[in-house]
Amino acid sequence: MRNDKKLILIVDDEEDIREILSETLESLDFEYLTACDGDEAIGLLDQYHETIDAAICDLKMPKVSGDQVIAHGAQHYPLIPIIILTGFAQLDMALDHMRLGAFDYMTKPFRVKELLLLLNRALEFRQLQEDKIAYQNTLEERIEEATQALHNRVVQTVSSFILAIEEKDRYTQGHSKRVSEYSALMADTLKLPENDRLDLLYAAQLHDIGKIGISEQLLNKPGKLNVVEYETIKTHPSKGVKILEPLDFLGNLLPIIEAHHEWFDGTGYPRGLAGEKIPFMARIIAVCDTFDAMTSERSYRKPLPLKIAIQEIKDGSGSQFDPNAVDAFLKVFEETLATRMISQGSP
Ligand SMILES: [Fe+2]
Repeated sequence: MRNDKKLILIVDDEEDIREILSETLESLDFEYLTACDGDEAIGLLDQYHETIDAAICDLKMPKVSGDQVIAHGAQHYPLIPIIILTGFAQLDMALDHMRLGAFDYMTKPFRVKELLLLLNRALEFRQLQEDKIAYQNTLEERIEEATQALHNRVVQTVSSFILAIEEKDRYTQGHSKRVSEYSALMADTLKLPENDRLDLLYAAQLHDIGKIGISEQLLNKPGKLNVVEYETIKTHPSKGVKILEPLDFLGNLLPIIEAHHEWFDGTGYPRGLAGEKIPFMARIIAVCDTFDAMTSERSYRKPLPLKIAIQEIKDGSGSQFDPNAVDAFLKVFEETLATRMISQGSP
């Protein structure tokens, strides 16, 4: 475990200097690591970069020189301030190294007061950098949260239109909500990444939004539809896309919503897409959507018994539905849905 003492890496090929620096740092309540050349220094940086707070580095060393240590540190561990310790007091040389990424420089022989001052300044600078990064991260998180909350609100608002339509017809009440719940269970079973999961839930909630553009009379018509009426109903996926198009952040959902009535074998609508051409989320929604339609009451029939509905889903595997989506749905059904629906009175 890390204590409160700051850890300083000392890099110098002269043993005397390393010793003086070590003793001085110890007396000032610092901890230290020492390296006798650039090679060793780079190795220590690579190994302990998470615990090294700052480095003091000589320039002229055999094999790997101080500039290479500075360049390596600046490239890989920019938060670690490196103070150059050099016998070459030329200002232009020190400035060159500061351009390489060194924090500051100190000339040999050094004074303890100067060393402490420089180290404190370097550590303060580092703290500021860390605070800045933490602040930026928090800010980004907050913006992300606020954007997500805003998106959620917009989706809820848009969903309320579809809810309003469903509420007018007792046979479709709660359909989108249930499809969305089933989709959430599918997302868990399929272990979808968070982004895909969100797309799926939004798309499930909004999949029938295009019904806004279809007359209530036709939507709620009891009994069989004639050819023209059926063709009109079939326009709702594309109408949904038109409605949502202006909402940029829902762009991902449009192909899903448009394809929720496509069949895996290519005989669905509106485009007759087949197999993998149908977005995967749409293939998931298709199963949930059909299952809910079968297990809800309709004006022309009672809800189908769960056994029959499940058999229909199994029978549709490979023709109407993606077999993978069917398998996942069967798993969801066995593990969660069956018990829940039976306890809620499903036949
Ligand atoms: Fe639909």
